[in-house]
Amino acid sequence: MKKITALRFPILLLSMLIGVNIIAQKTTVQNIEPRVEALIAKMTLDEKIGQLNQVVGDISTGTDVSKDDLLAQVRAGTVGSILSHTNFDNKITIQRAAVGSRLGIPIIFGFDVIHGYKTIFPIPLAQAASWDMGLIERIDRIAATEATADGQNWAFAPMLDVSWDPRWGRVMEGAGEDPFLGSRVAEARIRGFQGNNLADPTTLAACAKHFAGYGFGEAGRDYNTVDMSEQRLREMVLPPFEAAAKAGCATFMNAFNTLNGVPGSMNKHLLTDILRGEWGWKGMVVGDWNSFGETIVHGAAENDVDAAAKCLSAGSDMDMAGGTFQRGLKKALTTGRVTQAQIDEAVRRVLRLKYSLGLFDNPFLQLDPKRRDATLEKPEFRETAREAAAKSMVLLKNEGGLLPLTTSGPFKKIAIIGPYADSKGKKDYMSFWTLGLGMRDYDSTKIVTPAQALKPTLEKMGFTVTVTEICLDATCTEKDYSVARTASRDADLVIVCLGESGFDCGESRSVSNIQLNKDQERIFKFFTSGKPSVMVLFNSRPMVFDWVSENTPAILVAWQPGFEAGNALADVLVGKVNPSGKLPVTFPRNVGQVPLHYNHLNTGRPQQTTGQMWTSGYLDSPATPAYPFGYGLSYTTFSYSNISMTKSQYKMGESVDVSVTVTNTGDLAGEEVVQLYIQDISADISRPVKELKGFQKVMLAKGERRTISFRLTEKDLSYWNNELKFKADAGNFKVYVGGNSRDVKEAGFELIR
Ligand code: GLC
Repeated sequence: MKKITALRFPILLLSMLIGVNIIAQKTTVQNIEPRVEALIAKMTLDEKIGQLNQVVGDISTGTDVSKDDLLAQVRAGTVGSILSHTNFDNKITIQRAAVGSRLGIPIIFGFDVIHGYKTIFPIPLAQAASWDMGLIERIDRIAATEATADGQNWAFAPMLDVSWDPRWGRVMEGAGEDPFLGSRVAEARIRGFQGNNLADPTTLAACAKHFAGYGFGEAGRDYNTVDMSEQRLREMVLPPFEAAAKAGCATFMNAFNTLNGVPGSMNKHLLTDILRGEWGWKGMVVGDWNSFGETIVHGAAENDVDAAAKCLSAGSDMDMAGGTFQRGLKKALTTGRVTQAQIDEAVRRVLRLKYSLGLFDNPFLQLDPKRRDATLEKPEFRETAREAAAKSMVLLKNEGGLLPLTTSGPFKKIAIIGPYADSKGKKDYMSFWTLGLGMRDYDSTKIVTPAQALKPTLEKMGFTVTVTEICLDATCTEKDYSVARTASRDADLVIVCLGESGFDCGESRSVSNIQLNKDQERIFKFFTSGKPSVMVLFNSRPMVFDWVSENTPAILVAWQPGFEAGNALADVLVGKVNPSGKLPVTFPRNVGQVPLHYNHLNTGRPQQTTGQMWTSGYLDSPATPAYPFGYGLSYTTFSYSNISMTKSQYKMGESVDVSVTVTNTGDLAGEEVVQLYIQDISADISRPVKELKGFQKVMLAKGERRTISFRLTEKDLSYWNNELKFKADAGNFKVYVGGNSRDVKEAGFELIR
């Protein structure tokens, strides 16, 4: 007996040591599950429901909610996550309270890191216009580095909503109208945020949002009804989300809208059948702001209990800023609307996320004041912001090679004029999503305005430069106008900076008209009156400027460029950077054409010329866009030739190789985005006239000629048919290659069984 007793002690000690060792061991992929299970076994029902509760921090980005005592809730273990919290020291206090709660489960801090965090980059739509996935990844690597240094663990980005409607305010936040480009951007952004290891102190959990269909709200209105076929959903909406799931995006966020009558937060078809079922995704789904509670407003849930039951059962896990789970989930359990197993599964997903972020190993990993002070707004981050802004700008017109500006040209005196020439306004050149700087009262001197950069740059080159900012509101006096009038009259060239404020676009900022607003085209006419001119557009969405389009020789789309707006614009206008951006969205001639997108069906009666009877067009407008998807000029020129395929027939399953020769036929080195489109011209159902299936951004020296090759797989040739099977049809295909979706070289092949 004695011997056994003696033996028992070392076994007890050993098991204690192993136990301590497991807890003391860093979290690894292998030991997350046993830790999650061990923790769940200890949790009370209130603590479990608490992990599914996300409350608002010190910035509100939606309808206001009650601000109960945050620390008390955290200490009680009834809060799992806090969003939109900017105060660094307060985050430390909150995390201490969480670690001091009964089970010490750390808080995960979520934040809208949309186009930078403290260093602000071009808006996402502008970044997409660069078609440079490496650049986009670098941007979000920097954003994650800053956000994690400031105590954030989770970015509510990338926003992956394809949209064909520029009236929608949030078109600025996505990657435009095409699902293929949107998928590549999704992958780049998730790589940037998440890196290779979520436990790395500089990586953020990413969040694919808004799942799904949010960009197709009727009439371009935010939060509005979405009704579409399963075929269109699969073809045009879901690809970027599937790419995100396959890229390992840690979380997804519900969409506010109903999709075919079902609100995103309680959409089982999306969340369980497709996201978790078909795609096998294992992450955590967070609602959008009070979207669980809004299922009641949609009329799809009766009360908090019903809403909580329907959202949890559909596959939603965490309740953002709504308190619906807090108020309704316990009763949903006791009345049998949900099971304990369903609640536990949602809690598992939250805990897995926290373990994989390393929050249990060190809840203060990203709350290090020294790292924060050493990291935020490093000068090299601004250099990347300047590079990104210049590479996202799109040159739409450049008649007579007016640009780039050189002293050997005909101009000596330049007038810079317009509402966005030197604006100190809040959110100009930025967007609503710059919360890391504070909601409204951030220091706008951090932004380099066009005039601040252009004037010294041009003067150093020997130009004489005047700057006159024209306000668009009643504060402008006739005197301001007369000063600008004189300046423009005395100048050889007038650079007019028009557009919209970044704060006039974004969430809940849809418009019924996308014409340049507040009479800006009249301002343009008034100040240029026939002189050589350049229009620089600061915009968050496609805009209509038909008179300027016709009457000015040079147009540059600058989007909302962020902090380095002025420097990037100067780099492009003087030719330090040769513009290489291409439109990720179609620019219509007028809002009446909307929705207008390049990947449309042919119809049985496509219109060739305006007014052509018995065809699908208009009597009063061409059916074609002002500027097509994928369009953008360079200061050099490129020619396309020798489009060729290895064969004229390919068997199902064989790769299809396409090549084309691209030549830089101009006087400057430049980057070209070579785009590959297909058209399935003999499918079982009507297919788009073009579908983007590849692109390569290549730098070509003056005179350089290069053969660019693409490989198409059977998957590229497949589509969702009317039996909802994803398959390729045997038959004829066209292949198009060019520098935009309109001006292309054509080839063809037959796909055979
Ligand atoms: C907003 C947005 C969502 C954002 C969230 C938190 O309503 O729809 O994109 O991440 O609330 O700010």
